Amino acid sequence: MSQASNRSAELICTTNPGLEDLAFEELQQRLDEGGLKGTASERLPARIKGRLRIRYPGPLSSLVQAAGTLRSVHHLLRPVEQFLLPTETPLSTVGERLLEAPLPEMGPSTPFRVSSERRGEHPFGSQDIEREAGTALVERFGAPVDLTGYAVEVRVDVVESLCAVTVQLTRKALSYRHDRTYRPRVSLKPNVAYACLRLARLGPGTERLLDPFCGSGTILMEAADLLPGTELWGSDWSQRAVAGARANLEGAGLEGAGLKDRFRLQAGDARTLAELYPPASCDALVTNPPYGARLGRDIAFPRFYRDFLEQATAVLRPGGRLVVLVRKRGAFNVAAQRTPGLRIRHVQIIETSRVFPGIFVLQRSG
Ligand SMILES: C[S@@+](CC[C@H](N)C(=O)[O-])C[C@H]1O[C@@H](n2cnc3c(N)ncnc32)[C@H](O)[C@@H]1O
Repeated sequence: MSQASNRSAELICTTNPGLEDLAFEELQQRLDEGGLKGTASERLPARIKGRLRIRYPGPLSSLVQAAGTLRSVHHLLRPVEQFLLPTETPLSTVGERLLEAPLPEMGPSTPFRVSSERRGEHPFGSQDIEREAGTALVERFGAPVDLTGYAVEVRVDVVESLCAVTVQLTRKALSYRHDRTYRPRVSLKPNVAYACLRLARLGPGTERLLDPFCGSGTILMEAADLLPGTELWGSDWSQRAVAGARANLEGAGLEGAGLKDRFRLQAGDARTLAELYPPASCDALVTNPPYGARLGRDIAFPRFYRDFLEQATAVLRPGGRLVVLVRKRGAFNVAAQRTPGLRIRHVQIIETSRVFPGIFVLQRSG
């Protein structure tokens, strides 16, 4: 993480749209744990989805330190300024604003880079924004552009007509946690896995957690960090996924935490869970079945969800939670409502890579 300025005490955390509230809740918790109770209570309106903007009464460095431990977010940004782009001269306006924007991090010998994310219809691309902003900063500071060895990363993000200039304080995304040898395209981002686990309200009393569509094991890896005393069970009908999840868990350096003794991975169909696991043996199930896009295009989802939920109910202990991230929200909702012994407690719609799955939190009746 690069040095944060102490002059400003505002911070932006980026996350998936839909997870901003959860990220704020987590931040408050981290501040409490760091002895900074109640200090980040002011949440400012963020005009861009997936951004949590906080004002902090103490030094920014303390806030950055606490926020650096967040599991639900991707990056930490220091807000610089926001402005609207005129339709006629959008790019030259970016350049002009960067000639004036308050950037105390920059100096004549500070290697820097500009990055940009763009959303909406524009007659220019994100590379044009980067070029325009980079040229302005070279002109202003005489600083060298260095795409890999940079000390400062200036972000110039454009969402529709809004342009947000920030300094990115995290080099690697906080959501990038473990190097993985097996990473299928459908694997979940660890911060979304964290959000699902958080919604399951697990704690030291959670003896056993099951992910019956474990894929590369993201949810189990996240749980291994969070719940040191919990047994972690995972299954997937693909032998390749089971072997990959095992390699990932072993390679993640989690074995030192006694993981070998507490994880159990096996191949199996989530529609026959009752044959794989004893009745009422799991305190919680947290999982991410195929979306039906890249994976599972030929699945008849109403039936698939019904079969899975019936089996999940059988292996879940009374009162236990079942958290499922699904893309076919309508079909899942119907199946959940029709499954005896399950109640829907909460549904949270999020955005991941331009799709809008829902996190369903269900509970087995006591
Ligand atoms: C969306 S992926 C899960 C991704 C996982 N959360 C990760 O981070 O890698 C869905 C997984 O479900 C598995 N799957 C599909 N149908 C299944 C079934 N009937 N029973 C068990 N696993 C199944 C697939 O092999 C795939 O690994």
